[in-house]
Amino acid sequence: MERMVIGGRQRVSGELHVQGSKNLALPVLCACLLIPEPVVLTHCPLLSDVEETLAMLQTLGVFVKREGHTVFCDAKDAAPAKLSKEVTQGNRMSILLLGAMLSRFGCGEISYPGGCRIGKRPLDLHEQVFSRFGAELIALNDEMWACRKRRSAARISLPYPSVGATQNAILCACLSEGVSEISGAAKEPEVAGLCRFLIGAGAKIRGVGTSKLLIEGVKGLRGTRFAIEGDRIVAGTYLTAAAMSGGECLLHGVSPNRLGSYLEFLRRLGCEVSAKDESIRLRAPERLTSGLSVKTEPYPGFPTDLQPMAVGALCVARGDANVEETIFEERFAAAREMQKFGARLCIAPPNVSIHGVEKHFGARVQGRDLRGSAALLLMALCAQGESILEGVEYLNRGYEDIVRDMALLGCADIRKEEKKWGSYE
Ligand code: EPZ
Repeated sequence: MERMVIGGRQRVSGELHVQGSKNLALPVLCACLLIPEPVVLTHCPLLSDVEETLAMLQTLGVFVKREGHTVFCDAKDAAPAKLSKEVTQGNRMSILLLGAMLSRFGCGEISYPGGCRIGKRPLDLHEQVFSRFGAELIALNDEMWACRKRRSAARISLPYPSVGATQNAILCACLSEGVSEISGAAKEPEVAGLCRFLIGAGAKIRGVGTSKLLIEGVKGLRGTRFAIEGDRIVAGTYLTAAAMSGGECLLHGVSPNRLGSYLEFLRRLGCEVSAKDESIRLRAPERLTSGLSVKTEPYPGFPTDLQPMAVGALCVARGDANVEETIFEERFAAAREMQKFGARLCIAPPNVSIHGVEKHFGARVQGRDLRGSAALLLMALCAQGESILEGVEYLNRGYEDIVRDMALLGCADIRKEEKKWGSYE
């Protein structure tokens, strides 16, 4: 167990290249199971979620090798195997690997996925997708077994644009016989990115980036090389750090239009934001101005993954605000902890109302999920005095090295400490 000791009153100032996207790398790795030839992925982030997904692929007989940010996969000798709880509990990818197994082998067996506890996160939409593609399912004791009786294409209308269920439908459709139609599809860049990867491997997909995908099944996919794009949520986190601290930063390697609604939010807080090609520059005022009401929505709406950081920004801004979380009903753990810094919040899910306060004070806080832990780190950077952040292991799931990145952005007074039970005061 690790904790972080964070010096207060640190102003963000600097520039960096943003790491590769976790939420694109993970489904792309799952899709490698469909390709019985070598695949090379570049700019793949060094994260515990990625390592855990590689371990699941190895269980399925996929050859995997990592050299820095490049990952080599070859699913030539892949074979069905059960993904047990030991390998599935760390993240959400076992449910996508079940879709990939149905596509490649016609059957599969998994333990339920783990991942951040930010809501109930049911699997009903994934199950609907599998059934539409002809799978028989048995779900019992947090385990799911599925077997596909036919390989024919399907017409699916998703009642909600779930990112994962859309990705599963894509995985099932690519090698089916005939043309599949997926309407009500999620439009997140991570869905479009998965499509682009598969198209590079020979898949036939139309409507990429829209809510209606048409996928003509092909007999087989071929080896390919693919670069994982910059992580829009990591970029949003660092831009918020600059906004909250009255700082300035220049981020490279992330497409500004991936962050459209969030950049608009930062502008409404009073930040100057300019975007060019694959770079975003932000200059913050001395103090942010609030008076806003925001609501998380599927892409291109306000991203739920940046909601905890947005709440942090509104805590330090001048004025009152309201944030409504419409996607994950329990994503308020960080907001609750922010009160320990002196933030004035009223949490009544699905809403948080926030009265901005100028001064916050160092505190000992507990991160309980990935993005929430990052938001608490940003609050600690703005507070007066030292803070201690526990639950740092969550950060390793999505941020390659947030201490390194913060140092590059001028916030060097952060150190990690190994926690040995009973060794702290
Ligand atoms: C992906 O999760 C991301 N994870 C999440 O990022 C992100 O918050 C989320 O999409 C929304 O953008 C990965 O890509 C690995 P969903 P996913 O299916 O696919 C409900 C992060 O911090 N739902 O779009 O699991 C669900 O409960 C993570 O990086 C069902 O009801 O999200 C939620 O309310 C956290 N039934 C909503 O849909 C289902 O079968 C959206 O979930 C599936 C989902």
